[in-house]
Amino acid sequence: MTDSLEALKAEIRELTDKVAEHGYRYYVLDDPRITDSEYDELFRRLSRLEREHPELALPNSPTAKVGGPPLDRFTTVRHTLPMLSLDNITNREELADFEQRIQRFLKTTDPLEYVVEPKIDGVGVELVYEDGELAVASTRGDGVDGEDITQNVRTIRSVALSLRRDGAAVPRLLAVRGEVFYPTEGFQRLNRQREEAGEYIFANPRNAAAGALKQLDSKITASRPLDLFCHGMGAVEPASFAGHAEFLAALQDWGLKPVPLTRVCGSVDEIVSYQEEMEGRRDALPYEIDGVVLKVNSLELQRRLGQIARSPRWAMAYKFKPRQSTTRILDIQPQVGRTGTLTPVASLDPVQLAGVTVRNASLHNMDEIQRKDIRVGDTIVIERAGDVIPYVVRVLAEERDGSERPFEMPTQCPMCGSQVYREEGEAAYRCVGLSCPAKLKESLKFFGSRHALDIEGLGEKLIEQLVEKKLVADSADLFGLDEETLASLERMGAKSAQNLMGELHRRKDATLSRFVTALGIRHVGEATAKVLAEHFGTLDGIMGADEEALTEVRDIGPEVAKSIAGFFADAGNRRVIEKLLAHGFRLKAEARAEGALSGKSFVLTGSLETMSRSEAQKMIAALGGRVSGSVSGKTDYVVVGADPGSKATKAEELGVRVLDEDGLRALLEGGG
Ligand code: IVH
Repeated sequence: MTDSLEALKAEIRELTDKVAEHGYRYYVLDDPRITDSEYDELFRRLSRLEREHPELALPNSPTAKVGGPPLDRFTTVRHTLPMLSLDNITNREELADFEQRIQRFLKTTDPLEYVVEPKIDGVGVELVYEDGELAVASTRGDGVDGEDITQNVRTIRSVALSLRRDGAAVPRLLAVRGEVFYPTEGFQRLNRQREEAGEYIFANPRNAAAGALKQLDSKITASRPLDLFCHGMGAVEPASFAGHAEFLAALQDWGLKPVPLTRVCGSVDEIVSYQEEMEGRRDALPYEIDGVVLKVNSLELQRRLGQIARSPRWAMAYKFKPRQSTTRILDIQPQVGRTGTLTPVASLDPVQLAGVTVRNASLHNMDEIQRKDIRVGDTIVIERAGDVIPYVVRVLAEERDGSERPFEMPTQCPMCGSQVYREEGEAAYRCVGLSCPAKLKESLKFFGSRHALDIEGLGEKLIEQLVEKKLVADSADLFGLDEETLASLERMGAKSAQNLMGELHRRKDATLSRFVTALGIRHVGEATAKVLAEHFGTLDGIMGADEEALTEVRDIGPEVAKSIAGFFADAGNRRVIEKLLAHGFRLKAEARAEGALSGKSFVLTGSLETMSRSEAQKMIAALGGRVSGSVSGKTDYVVVGADPGSKATKAEELGVRVLDEDGLRALLEGGG
């Protein structure tokens, strides 16, 4: 027993070291030595052992990166030394003045040595390490006191929870200052998702970083791709550095990420050319910078120079040209995206903004327009940050002359004329058109996907060619293609053309539910399509049902019913369906398994440990049960895995029976 406990302890220690080491190689050095799935496997094994034996988990285990229990509020922490702010300069003359000022102060005419760094556009934080272990992390706050955001900072992948000890000696106390930032690519992805969902759009990566750090639930922070560069020191005991450059090198030894691309400069000329070089590289960097920071390298000189008001006399921010400008909105037009979302885009009076001519600005969604009260004809402030696409910061309402007009979403899609609708509680407007050219590629991809008609050989590259060469205008056109045309396309030979023809032919024997899934009706996935097919039995039955009749179907709520009825009410959609049927589809009713779970309905939420969701779904279906997407009073069981969503809460509210994974197994085995 003790032996096995010892062995377990040793395994946990070994895994902890391995996960920390490989995480460091991946997130700090960007030089992984194992594959992502090998890393995930180690991480999972360690999490599992820690869960089973919490008493054996090591403090500051790298599994803390997934976040901890939510907090009620942030507490206040005092910084080890005040966190100062920086004075700004914007040109060479001011830089020369700055140098003269400090030379006069130091009573010298000797050139000074500076370390010059990119100025990261993020959120300033302080991290305190005690005996090499991360103890506290805080926001800048008022410079003296900040908020304790330790839980959130611990989730940042590149933040060392324990310092490495194979280089510079680890001080007893080390307070490091740095910048938490949101990498540009992740920032663009985040805003795209938020635009699609009709949510609030972040103006720049700094706001997105601040938003992620302010979460009381660190699991949300963990889900964001935040990163941290270190650029300064608070209290360090014992202190052993002569210069700032030396300190940055030590950070690297300790496993932290010092701010990159720094340069030691010995003159105003060198600093100016560094600043210009960085301004030129600005758009190519994977994070946003808004200038450079120059710092006197010698810590002794820094000490002698001291501070004026709340800024050090030994450092200065040398900013880039602003990426903000004002212009006028000439018009606002909706643009239809590949998922059918209508995005309002402003055409602008062309304006130069940090090197590019800006003609358009996305207004993202209706809520954004209303929040900022943006109207056609308005004079606006635009900003380009972390993205080439500019963002409307605000309207200059004082510039209005009364001729400005509010924008309204059209009720018909500008691309195909189909109906445009808005879901309750959502800001996004969507086009329902099945053959809307804006959505065509996406809908064809979905049409042939594994869960829909499962058409092998109908890949993305082929779909692109078919659409671009105007060979198909809707999914029905796929069945009118001939072998010769297909064989003439890029990357297609006679053989693959022949195979695809055979495949298309075979898929006409689809089940009704696969056919309905393939139509790509919003909110109707595999499970709902099955419910519809079972309830109505025929395609005519489904198409003929009105909203009310649909709402009466088990597992279908008002939102889904509205989406289905709207889809089939569209004349264009009905035409495509007729065309499909004319190609000889023979839809089969569902073959339903009968078994111990016949008539029982299940909802799965959270992740299961011993089986995937689709495995669970298959096993339930094999016994005649069915799995649906949302909990209602008609649900028999909700199966709750790890990290369940709101469905678990809803089940409790409705008094639906809740099963854990073991409970589900018992039911499956008992019935099987
Ligand atoms: S040094 C006492 N270095 O900019 C000097 N700051 O506008 C402390 N910042 O509060 C700052 N990149 O949060 C320094 N390479 C860098 C920086 C940097 C970004 C932030 C920092 C500071 C703010 C001042």
